Amino acid sequence: MDIRVRTGHVEEEAADAVVVMHCEGEPRLTGGASALDTQLKGRLAALLKSGEFTGKPNQVSIVHVAPGERVHAKRVVLVGLGKPKEASLEKLRQATATAAKAIRTVGAESFAVSVQDPAQLLTGLPAASRVREVAQALVESAILGLYQFTVYHTEQKDTAKDVRRMTVLMSDPPALAQAQQGARQGQIVGEAATYVRDLCNHPANVVTPTYIANEAKKVARERGVRCTVLDRPQMERLGMGAILGVARGSHEPPKFIILEYRGGPRGERPVALVGKTITFDSGGISLKPADNMEQMKADMTGGAAVLAAVRAASRLRLPLNLVAVIPATENMPGGRAIKPGDVLRSLSGKTIEVINTDAEGRLILADGLTYAQRFKPAALIDIATLTGACVVALGNHAIGVLGNNERLIGELKDAGERCGERVWQLPLWEEYYEQIKSDVADVKNTGGRAGGTITAAAFLSKFAGDGVWAHLDIASTDWSERERAYIPKGATGVGVRLLIQFLCNRANGPRPSAAQGH
Ligand code: BES
Ligand code: MN
Ligand code: ZN
Repeated sequence: MDIRVRTGHVEEEAADAVVVMHCEGEPRLTGGASALDTQLKGRLAALLKSGEFTGKPNQVSIVHVAPGERVHAKRVVLVGLGKPKEASLEKLRQATATAAKAIRTVGAESFAVSVQDPAQLLTGLPAASRVREVAQALVESAILGLYQFTVYHTEQKDTAKDVRRMTVLMSDPPALAQAQQGARQGQIVGEAATYVRDLCNHPANVVTPTYIANEAKKVARERGVRCTVLDRPQMERLGMGAILGVARGSHEPPKFIILEYRGGPRGERPVALVGKTITFDSGGISLKPADNMEQMKADMTGGAAVLAAVRAASRLRLPLNLVAVIPATENMPGGRAIKPGDVLRSLSGKTIEVINTDAEGRLILADGLTYAQRFKPAALIDIATLTGACVVALGNHAIGVLGNNERLIGELKDAGERCGERVWQLPLWEEYYEQIKSDVADVKNTGGRAGGTITAAAFLSKFAGDGVWAHLDIASTDWSERERAYIPKGATGVGVRLLIQFLCNRANGPRPSAAQGH
């Protein structure tokens, strides 16, 4: 989608549609809506008065401009933002995505929306950044909402045209630069999430570890980022017994991918991100039931999010150093597959008893976390579709977070509130470690049913070293059974917006000195 930002007013904009927002319970139209209403001889106000449109969240009404009316657009799309007190960036994202989808449904190809009007409603945001954040939310959510995954449809079911252009209007010329910055940020973040969705929606017979490695090389080439891909013999030489154990059951060669983006001062410790990349999780010998197994093509969302975060950090030229570690393999039950009871020697030297081959994510992350410590990171974060228990604990609306540093966890929570990918902490107390003690090895890879998300994190902590570390469990949020305002059915692309927000906050926050430890 082509995105433009310019000074202007909705009532003067020539487009297939202009979008205006309205808060629930407000008796009168304001801003652009009221200017449009004057030209439309009160037809918008009539919708309000009749009760047909109330402004409740995500309610949409479309009004056609009649011949002779002095509005340049073909249609006016009214969308509800909900109660004024509850207005937030998140409500704005949902309203924008809902409007954008309604626009596509009626076959319109271009639309315009003003930054000024919602910026005046969202008084909870700091004035200094309000225009930028609203512009970002508008563009980001339009991209997210309009996302479709259709590459494998050979017969066109839907004749609806695609929305080709979005114009972001700013009536106040001095604030145009802020709106432009926000729109660009929104485009980069929105495209990062749709990139993750694509990688996860493509089937596992296409997106293999080799495919991911090639994708990482492509990102590296385009963005001037350093990329290293270790293949099986190199991984053997290093002693990566945990990921190699998982890879044994598959014919697809595993890849261990490292990306290094250097946007910060030379020598400054990087943020290290480790993303679980199981391109298909059958469960291995501890085979999963058939129901919903196809969703396990998305068991690589963590890795895709990490790859997309590097790409976005580079496009945004974030002034920080960033390392991404992407251990990639399939988890299959081939004849050489690991078996329950097998013992693996991980890169760290620690031995692991495999109780359940379906607890494979923590195995590949063990080697990923160990490898990431080579870069002496200022913060180490892993992100993974790790446990079904996370779905039980948190439902589909929160990412689980656990770690060894409350400050880092706080930063992730803040980033989550701000970007709409919210994060909820679970405890990581020493009592839980009892559950992963093994009789034959240093640790075992499952801790029983109780507290499954916590014991998985406890396992990871044994490989995270002594530095600042946090673990994000996205198993509850990476896949959506139903369409929501800006989240489609299928892969949600969750995690990457959180990571980018976290990195942006870090890049803009107080800089720790290069010499400073953790
Ligand atoms: N990839 C799954 C976790 C998952 C489940 C992600 C549902 C998304 C939706 C992971 O590898 C897994 O199989 N975990 C096991 C761990 C168990 C064997 C200790 C689980 O959660 O059942
Ligand atoms: Mn599994
Ligand atoms: Zn898995």
